[in-house]
Amino acid sequence: MLEMSSPAVPLFLFFLTLGSVQSQSSSQDAFILQYLERRLTQMEERLNQCEQNTVTATQKTYDLSSEIRGYLSTLTVLRSEVKNQVDSVSARVERVERELEYLENKIPNQPDIEMEEALLEQQIKAAELDQLKKKATLKVDNDCSTTLSQIKSLKIVKKAGDTYGTWFKDPSEGSANVYLLSGIRNNTVLQYSSLQSFTERTSAPPEKVLQLPFQWQGSGHVVYNGFLYCHKADTPNEILKVDMLNGSVADSTLLPGAGRLPVYSLNPNTYLDMAVDELGLWVIHADPEYGGNLVITKLDKGTLAVEYTWDTQCRSRDAEGAFIICGTLYVVYNTRYGGRSTVQCLYDIHDTIHSEESPVIFFPKRYTSHSSIHYHPGDKQLYAWDDGYQTIYKVETRRSDRVTAE
Ligand SMILES: *[C@@H]1O[C@H](CO)[C@@H](O)[C@H](O)[C@H]1NC(C)=O
Ligand SMILES: *[C@@H]1O[C@H](CO)[C@@H](O)[C@H](O)[C@H]1NC(C)=O
Repeated sequence: MLEMSSPAVPLFLFFLTLGSVQSQSSSQDAFILQYLERRLTQMEERLNQCEQNTVTATQKTYDLSSEIRGYLSTLTVLRSEVKNQVDSVSARVERVERELEYLENKIPNQPDIEMEEALLEQQIKAAELDQLKKKATLKVDNDCSTTLSQIKSLKIVKKAGDTYGTWFKDPSEGSANVYLLSGIRNNTVLQYSSLQSFTERTSAPPEKVLQLPFQWQGSGHVVYNGFLYCHKADTPNEILKVDMLNGSVADSTLLPGAGRLPVYSLNPNTYLDMAVDELGLWVIHADPEYGGNLVITKLDKGTLAVEYTWDTQCRSRDAEGAFIICGTLYVVYNTRYGGRSTVQCLYDIHDTIHSEESPVIFFPKRYTSHSSIHYHPGDKQLYAWDDGYQTIYKVETRRSDRVTAE
């Protein structure tokens, strides 16, 4: 038949020549053929055009998509670069902030004055308390009607020991002794005669190093009236009362229901957290049978007998520590990655303060995490262990509208 390349004109001429020779009816056929031929050629041209357009469009689409792919991979690289930079900058800022804080507190004049003030304050408080006690020994409960309103200031006093640990001052009247238990398991207790001695002796050894005949575990210990109350290692729930004069065990007890869960999920090595407040000796633990919530137990400091137990609604998850002020438990929460600690749950044994009514209380600075927090009722201060830094927080309290029986 017809060749694609052959134009219509020679064919037309051929038909014309043919037509003049042949009859009239065949000349009509020739015209129809000629017409069809023309249409066919036009269509072929349009088809060609279409084909060409498609090829161009496909090429363009391909070019565009590979260009976009290029942009995307550049963006991904840029984004991860920026993220890395931001991460490292914030880590450095945090580090510098902390070092600065530490160095500031090493400048001799300022902290000394602060410390003397604190000591003086404490002495005045002790004297006041003494007088009150002489006046009416039964009114101790009336003195204890305070609620934590804020955590005012932070002071790093020393950098010593491991990442985890605990330090505190004996809260009994007339005692200025400071103790340090570094790590999560050891048999050593370091004793200093005062806070001043504790901060000054950075390289010199402490006044007294006590090697106990057993190991303690976690960071929930306290010293009260010259006795260490601690969790004995390798037991789930044994509390020992140890005479700090010679390291002998004066008493021991097993705390019912304790020892199956860490008290605070962010401090996995502490199963028993001891506390001292205006009312006496306490121990905090988490109970799996109570949804992992915290349980507080009032102990007799002499015999270690359980006086009473309260189940609280405060959860152990994301908690890093807790302290007790005037019979009210304040639980401190944080994240696994460290950050700003907040008091978000409280439990009042007198049932006059409620979590829902109290605002979240923030700790003053954004640091890593606390492995222990101890309240000192005389100083109105928290002694905390922040990633190897021994830190003091001043707390502000206000009178709660507690109804007291006359
Ligand atoms: C126990 O504590 C002492 C003093 O803090 C320290 O020198 C020693 O390395 C600790 N031992 C262990 C096994 O952690
Ligand atoms: C430790 O001292 C107390 C009194 O302070 C005493 O009763 C006890 O027997 C002493 N223990 C040892 C082992 O010396």
